Amino acid sequence: MMASFKRVLALAVVLAPAVVRGAAIVSRAQCQATLDTATGELWTDSVRIRVFTYTCFCGMDTEAEELQNAVEDLHNLMLAAGTTTWGSVGDTSRIGRAAENPSTNWQDILAGSNDDAQWVILALWKIADYRAAHGQSITAFMNAAGQIYDFIAGQWDNTCGGGVWWSTAHTYKNAITNELFLLTSASGYLRTNDQKYLTNANNVWNWLSASGMRNSQGLWNDGLDSDTCANNGQTTWTYNQGVIASGLGALYAATGNTTLLDQAEITLDATIAHLTVNNILKESCDNAASSTGACNHDQGIWTKHVQYYLDNANDASRTAKYSSFLGSQSSAALHYGKSAANDVGSVWYAPNAGGSVFTPESTASGLEAFVSAAKYGPC
Ligand SMILES: *[C@@H]1O[C@H](CO)[C@@H](O)[C@H](O)[C@H]1NC(C)=O
Repeated sequence: MMASFKRVLALAVVLAPAVVRGAAIVSRAQCQATLDTATGELWTDSVRIRVFTYTCFCGMDTEAEELQNAVEDLHNLMLAAGTTTWGSVGDTSRIGRAAENPSTNWQDILAGSNDDAQWVILALWKIADYRAAHGQSITAFMNAAGQIYDFIAGQWDNTCGGGVWWSTAHTYKNAITNELFLLTSASGYLRTNDQKYLTNANNVWNWLSASGMRNSQGLWNDGLDSDTCANNGQTTWTYNQGVIASGLGALYAATGNTTLLDQAEITLDATIAHLTVNNILKESCDNAASSTGACNHDQGIWTKHVQYYLDNANDASRTAKYSSFLGSQSSAALHYGKSAANDVGSVWYAPNAGGSVFTPESTASGLEAFVSAAKYGPC
């Protein structure tokens, strides 16, 4: 089955532009053929993403996670391909305009959502990387990200022994919010050298690793039971298994402790073992045959954060371990996920038989698979 995913690709590479200090560490040859697919065959998808980022004035409670990821993805693609096609998105997106407006009240925009706030930080940093690569000021974007970060750091307390709350309502401590806090803390340290970030990164990893949220398979469940502080056994979303790895990769880059890479790979390997069908990522709610309604569209976040993990691990044997899997994911997104209209749906593991859901967010997720495979997949 998988053989049909293999395509003969011309071996052509370009060098990615230099990135600002503390962003992706590795400047690495990119697979031009894979980038061409992302910018060519998926071009209309990218336009859809752009339209989405322009027109969505939704509050942070509505599709905010996917929106911020789409902004980040377009900048990742432009940085990888050395293009400026969607260069206005940073300035015109809702968060870009907010960052450039000194009177912005971020609390109004973030609306109490501590996980979404951190997707915003990641998107602002990526816009900053793109601007830096083009000689533009990054001050407003770095300042906005720092302001949001400080607010999130203030959401930590000792309920269940530590961790930041999922929202300012303080009702739930969960994996994604704290995995993102590990990533924003360790990355914040790499970007600024400010010790407060490193202290927080160590604290949140120590707390996460003792929290019980990683199950016996090596996968992170959704969160903690609010009465008992035990693992609540809820869904092991794919994005939970990717963001922990990028966070640990960044903490490794800050500390040189290789045990953190081994910890990351416990979960990456468990993802491949337990959250796939035919070696392709499958969200538990995905169903090629009939839509189950609400489902994350986040396999692409896993691939993007494996890319970030490998950037910081900066180790040829670790890269080799995940290379073919990343290539298979982009191939599946293209051959099984993509529609005739060049949208990528939520289902990658099998041809769509009516159950795949096609949205700007799912298309952005497909794009992530390509950007990741262009850097670390086979060419
Ligand atoms: C390296 O990380 C592991 C895993 O968190 C931890 O147990 C160990 O103490 C760390 N080593 C050092 C020298 O900090």
